[in-house]
Amino acid sequence: MAVDERVEELRRRKALAREGGGAERAEQQHQKGKRTARERIELLLDPGSFVETDAFVEHRATDFGMDKKRVAGDGVVTGHGTIDGRTVCVFSQDFTVFGGSLGEMHANKIVKIMDLAMKIGAPVIGLNDSGGARIQEGVISLGAYAEIFFRNVLASGVVPQISTVLGPCAGGAVYSPAMTDFTIMAKGTSYMFITGPEVIKTVTGEDVTFEQLGGAMTHNEKSGVAHFAAEDEHEALRLTRKLLSYLPSNNVEDPPVVPTDDDPNRQDPELATAVPREPDKPYDMRDVITRIVDRGSWFEVQEHWAQNIVVGFARLEGRPAGVVGNQPKVLAGTLDINSSTKAGRFVRFCDAFNLPLLTFVDVPGFLPGTAQEYGGIIRNGAKLLYAFSEATVPKVTVITRKAYGGAYDVMCSKHIRGDMNFAWPSAELAVMGPEGAVQIIFKKEIEAAKDPKKREAELVSEYREKFANPYIAARMGYLDDIIEPQETRLRVIQAFRVLRSKRETRPPKKHGNIPL
Ligand code: HXC
Repeated sequence: MAVDERVEELRRRKALAREGGGAERAEQQHQKGKRTARERIELLLDPGSFVETDAFVEHRATDFGMDKKRVAGDGVVTGHGTIDGRTVCVFSQDFTVFGGSLGEMHANKIVKIMDLAMKIGAPVIGLNDSGGARIQEGVISLGAYAEIFFRNVLASGVVPQISTVLGPCAGGAVYSPAMTDFTIMAKGTSYMFITGPEVIKTVTGEDVTFEQLGGAMTHNEKSGVAHFAAEDEHEALRLTRKLLSYLPSNNVEDPPVVPTDDDPNRQDPELATAVPREPDKPYDMRDVITRIVDRGSWFEVQEHWAQNIVVGFARLEGRPAGVVGNQPKVLAGTLDINSSTKAGRFVRFCDAFNLPLLTFVDVPGFLPGTAQEYGGIIRNGAKLLYAFSEATVPKVTVITRKAYGGAYDVMCSKHIRGDMNFAWPSAELAVMGPEGAVQIIFKKEIEAAKDPKKREAELVSEYREKFANPYIAARMGYLDDIIEPQETRLRVIQAFRVLRSKRETRPPKKHGNIPL
């Protein structure tokens, strides 16, 4: 059958748009270990599910000879598709067109797909690969960025937003990823920075490479800007899909349930010895978490940064939950500035998106020292206290060992509305550790003793017996039960089952004022 010449024209134009910056530039991408914008979308979405929008959009700049350089699509591919059968909205910047730089019409396309996501309640995934604001468009591109930033804020807490950074992300461009919920970077090919190495050299005299300044491990280990470091692009896109499998599509939906054959009654005898008897001996809280949640479901977030706390997603009876745990293996599991910020943000994400919170506590207190005090541990530690207090999703807490001082209150204690608070028999709930406590309250007595060391040891032992156990707190009702470690999985599952219908309202207000 003869094809109408107008349809032929349409096909020709669409084929041209699909070429982006052309085969040669696509090849340059490949040589850098990067894929093209469209290849990335193919890898990210369910096969054949992508539906493109705005393929014909072009810029309308005329300065610097731009009127002679127009490419259909204007350097970003936008549209919708599915991941595991669920709708997502996606934009993928095309580095082969003006270096993926962002001008007015490029931004309009992103803004349109974000608006669609908000209307239909679908997550937004941005695949970032861009030289930043399109220099030829001047202030118009700054305004265009701000339109995106503003929508990032509108969408925050309404639909999940994920930034997968697969190339440069420079200047103000980093603020969109910064305002999204999760940032995933690929090692060796993605960079984020406010000002590049050349500017830094000029202003401060520092010599720094792209990788050192803003590579995947810099932002995963040092700055905490990124949440995941993938080995390469392929893994970055796989992680993006995996992350979504724990998240609801929007704030009025529940997260997706994944069938599991892991028995809710499964008892793990190893848990009985998971916590060493010696109070200062470290252990890995992840060994506790993974023995309790559905087998294979633990998905750690920000695993390289602020490792004295672990946060991540897991499933119980196939239902996703957010998990927070002090990590005795690093800095004895103390809370410091970074760990409080890390966990605070995670808790707020979970609360916004109906993910119940499971908290494991083994915390000797806040990390002491001038570096922490001068850095504002008071203000930063308060973030986690605020976040747990503010959260109204079901909250279950398990104290495995230490719950000392202010950190006891912070770690989702009963008093800040933990719904079910459990402790293992090894738990110690007190104002501070026995050694510190006796030095303060029995200082004179110890000094006056014939054998101060012996007296101190006696007092420590007395204190431990009296206070360093879970029974006083249980007597007060601060704990709902003291449970055997091996039954934790079942007890936590039962708690979340009961809490599924939880409704908790708070006083109406415009918004609170979390200590930033
Ligand atoms: C217009 C740009 C561009 C930009 C790159 N290109 N960045 N065009 N505006 N911002 C173009 C280049 O001219 C080149 O075009 C093509 O993209 C590929 O760039 P290369 O430099 O050849 O690639 P590469 O060597 O891989 O280096 C990539 C890069 C570098 C590191 C991103 O291009 C770079 O430093 N760009 C500038 C980054 C930057 O400072 N952006 C502005 C930030 S300020 P041709 O046709 O020659 O191949 C900002 C403010 C936003 O973003 C504020 C919002 C609030």
